[in-house]
Amino acid sequence: MKREVWASRVGLVFAAAGNAVGLGNLLRFPSKVALYGGGAFMLPYFVALFLLGIPLMVLEWVMGRYAGAKGHGSMTGIMGSLFDNAHWARVLGSLGVAIPFLIACYYIYIESWTLGFAVLSLLGQMPEPVESPDPKTAMEPYVKFFNDYTAPSKLAIFFLLVTLGINWLVLQRGVVKGIELTAKFGIPALLLMGIFLGVVSLSIRGGKGLEGLLYIYTPDFSKVWDPQVWLEASGQIFFTLSLGMGAIATYASYVKEKEDVLKAGLWTAGINEFVEVVIGASIAIPAAFAMFGAMAVPELAKEGIFRLGFMSMPAVLMALPLGWLLSAVWFFLLFIAALTSSLALMQPLVSLFEDEMRWSHSTAVGVSILMLTAGALLSAFLPGFVDEVDFWAGTLMLVFFALVEIVVFVWVFGVHRFHHELTRDVFLKVPKGVVYFFAVVSPLFLLVLLYQWGVVKLPQVLANKDVNIILARLFVLATLVLMAFFAVKSRKRYLSGPHL
Ligand code: ALA
Repeated sequence: MKREVWASRVGLVFAAAGNAVGLGNLLRFPSKVALYGGGAFMLPYFVALFLLGIPLMVLEWVMGRYAGAKGHGSMTGIMGSLFDNAHWARVLGSLGVAIPFLIACYYIYIESWTLGFAVLSLLGQMPEPVESPDPKTAMEPYVKFFNDYTAPSKLAIFFLLVTLGINWLVLQRGVVKGIELTAKFGIPALLLMGIFLGVVSLSIRGGKGLEGLLYIYTPDFSKVWDPQVWLEASGQIFFTLSLGMGAIATYASYVKEKEDVLKAGLWTAGINEFVEVVIGASIAIPAAFAMFGAMAVPELAKEGIFRLGFMSMPAVLMALPLGWLLSAVWFFLLFIAALTSSLALMQPLVSLFEDEMRWSHSTAVGVSILMLTAGALLSAFLPGFVDEVDFWAGTLMLVFFALVEIVVFVWVFGVHRFHHELTRDVFLKVPKGVVYFFAVVSPLFLLVLLYQWGVVKLPQVLANKDVNIILARLFVLATLVLMAFFAVKSRKRYLSGPHL
């Protein structure tokens, strides 16, 4: 069967924006900014955006287009395609299938909460608000509600299965009729709901929310030299732009042969940054600031992104007129953002099964969703699973795989060949010097990050020997082995299969 290509330029850009824009923009970003020095966080954030984010984004688009034309969409096939499908390249590339899959395992569970909370808000099932200037008291009913829901309750499992079903349905319909169509409706809806909620949050209590926005962007320069701030800001860039995962390259593999990938990459990063630093910054923190005051914000952020999104936001919104509706809009906004990202996190695995293993589309999607269901149930029932897998796949491996991408695609493939691919059919002829610059500077930056995560943080993480945590690590390990196995097993099948 011929590989699909995105049906239109708009559809492609929306799908790619949907890939990047997610819970990272609306929950993770505001929490990190509030926690790590407000405006001081933004300095390393933008440094990481320009030195790592944009170059890696363009790199993944360029290589995705290159390998897509040869019939490969997963990193296993993309890396293999550069080196005559050598085993080493396919196995190394298989990391770029394992990482997004592992992230999807917990991401989908959180996505299912957003759907559940949206529906419950619409049905008037959210707890009644308690009027109090004290955030603890005001949030009490919502903390209990959240804890009961995520215990997990039967309802949580029901919505998890519904969410898995929706993902299955969209993936089953394919790239154009499934993912592209969802993004074409989803992204404009997301932008509208996001801007609407931003305006609501900023105008709470006669514009007090606006002070909250200023609070986020007021620099605390004492934190600029804190390595932790740099680490968190760079980590945020990876997560929010979906880089070092392989997910961007997979979407890029479905472009037409002469698509302007430079433009597409810049659009993806641009829309993502708009939704993050403008819309994401204008909702959760300003709302909490206006209701509970400046002192409460870092406290709320410290307790994690779930507290801000699932407890403080409903407490704020439910206290406003038509609170149930505002709460529903908030959770639907999160759901659309999450859905368009979870599809992108799963497509590399679907592509591996389809392009490399040569399975039918239905089998590829069916097996992928079954595997995802196993991971999602572990997220629901195994305490500590979400945080542990987020550390390995959502933090450490992203940095490592980004380094692998630069070394393989630029150094080993060759600066000259990479530059040729980069400047073919694009609106701007990037000088070769720029490639040399990034080929040296970005890896150095990545090595520093890798040192911090791998050498400084890793021993702290490994010190936790709880049996549930060990099980979570075993799941990560088993996934890596399984993906490497598929990489080796599929080689022969790919080589003997019909050429596309
Ligand atoms: N990039 C996706 C997000 O921000 C994974 O949630």
